[in-house]
Amino acid sequence: MIIAGNFKTNHTRSSTFSYCKELDSLLGAQKSEVYVFPSMCALPYDDFAHFSIGVQNAYPACNGAYSGEIGLEQIQELGINTLMIGHSERRLILKEDDELCKRKFDFFSQYGMNVFFCIGEDLQARRDARVLDVLASQLKSIDLDYSRLVVAYEPIWAIGTGVSASLEEIKETHRLLKELGCKKVIYGGSVSEGNAKDIMNLEYVDGVLVGGASLDLKRFYQIIQQGEEI
Ligand code: 13P
Repeated sequence: MIIAGNFKTNHTRSSTFSYCKELDSLLGAQKSEVYVFPSMCALPYDDFAHFSIGVQNAYPACNGAYSGEIGLEQIQELGINTLMIGHSERRLILKEDDELCKRKFDFFSQYGMNVFFCIGEDLQARRDARVLDVLASQLKSIDLDYSRLVVAYEPIWAIGTGVSASLEEIKETHRLLKELGCKKVIYGGSVSEGNAKDIMNLEYVDGVLVGGASLDLKRFYQIIQQGEEI
């Protein structure tokens, strides 16, 4: 399983560092790949024994005049090799479009980075039965054969709402994504210690991307343990 925690704009540098230290001491040689995506100013060196650090966003350049952004040089200095692209909060709040997401994917995949590429439909698209069209268009021009690509399916209506997609919806959407050619697909959207096991047990699901529930180390650790039982 792939189990990732997205801290978004939560935790300070100090609380992130103690969280990561404690998580590393709790984890052993587990089967799952575990990732933590802290906020930008709280990024530690990626030198933990049992999990990896990822960045929630970066600009597709080594360095340069892109105020407010970080580039490859800053990421590499921390030994980080994992990047999230296209989270719906960036698409919606920061108006990031498919074209920019594609430029990020093309740039960072050239350097062999692990890419967590986020896609997801809004409620209207689900009501209108346009889910597959929306997801396919978000993935358009992304090389789905890139070996370090993880597609994170996060229906917008399930993010931070406490209402996850149903197991049937998750399974069916992941099945369609695999049919489209995605190799690894993880689910995000109100994943908690209460539903993670059932979600990870589903066919076509390769892991989970956890927001709110990952902020609490005990809850995130429980989810990781559930992943180990699968
Ligand atoms: P929640 O788990 O808080 O719904 O957030 C999901 C998410 O956006 C992870 O990237």
